[in-house]
Amino acid sequence: MKIGSVQLKNNVLAAPMAGVTDKAFRILAREAGCGMVYTEMVSAKALTYGNRKTSEILDLSGEPSPLAVQIFGSDPQVVAEGADIAVKAGADIVDINMGCPAPKIVRNGEGAALMLDMDLALEVAGAVVERVDVPVTVKMRKGWDQQSVNSVEMSVGMEGVGVSGITVHGRTRDQFYAGRADWDIIKEVKRAVGIPVIGNGDIWKPQDARDMLEYTQCDGIMVGRGAMGNPWLFEQILSYIRDGSLLPEPTPKERILLAGRHLRLAVKFKGEKKGVMEMRKHLAWYLKGFPGASGWRNKINQTDSLEAVEELLGEILQVTA
Ligand SMILES: Cc1cc2nc3c(=O)[nH]c(=O)nc-3n(C[C@H](O)[C@H](O)[C@H](O)COP(=O)(O)O)c2cc1C
Repeated sequence: MKIGSVQLKNNVLAAPMAGVTDKAFRILAREAGCGMVYTEMVSAKALTYGNRKTSEILDLSGEPSPLAVQIFGSDPQVVAEGADIAVKAGADIVDINMGCPAPKIVRNGEGAALMLDMDLALEVAGAVVERVDVPVTVKMRKGWDQQSVNSVEMSVGMEGVGVSGITVHGRTRDQFYAGRADWDIIKEVKRAVGIPVIGNGDIWKPQDARDMLEYTQCDGIMVGRGAMGNPWLFEQILSYIRDGSLLPEPTPKERILLAGRHLRLAVKFKGEKKGVMEMRKHLAWYLKGFPGASGWRNKINQTDSLEAVEELLGEILQVTA
């Protein structure tokens, strides 16, 4: 799959997820074979201010291509400026977030709120396309609510202003993450535009990926929550869509070993205190379904050193694997 001039490794992509898809996660997702990774969303305005936390999100050092940086904002010139900064930091593709449902984002007219003002959304995307030399993509929802479903119209407009690819999450903003994602809207967008369309929403297992590709005829698929604590999903999907073979689920031992590796990567990139804190949720995801998982989770949440968490992982390994 190709987005503009950028050749992806394959068409199974790791969704941008704030608080999840940091450098450590991206390394593991790539190792599991996914075709492209995205950063967490980053505020274009904060980028232009040189905000420190934002600069950390934009640390792409040592990461291989292809890598997309996702930015959000609603002022065309500011978003274009942010995109320029992202490209200078190493983005191969700039993705604009037009799907985030969070109140603190939409209150500023950003994220999914742009779906309520299509003219401004097109202006934002057009300004970014003008400004940067890399392909620009847009990630949107089905619409703001069921009464204003406009992703088909908006995608056609995006293609018109020079956007190179569209990701559609088949839920409206007011659904947040509830209900089933609507794959018909992905199919409709795919029919309406000539640029690559990436389908997103409710891919939890390899069969879902194949079903979405077949049903919607989309060019690529994007996996979000299914890969949390579960990067194996990427290789399972790739194997299944390649030749129908279902790879075995990772063993408890494999889960714990990868959780430990994820932890050490997080500490390497963020320092011990922050790395260990931020890993709590990831470790809970890795341990989902383990006997006594909630007890282990409580113990992990009471520790704040790398050594102590590694010891706990060692104990879990001994009793379960
Ligand atoms: C914790 C979390 C953080 C997310 N952060 C972002 C984000 O930064 N940018 C974005 O475009 N979407 C974000 N999303 C939405 C996902 O990219 C994706 O569209 C959504 O989860 C649906 O896909 P899924 O059903 O495979 O999870 C986030 C979702 C979750 C659960």
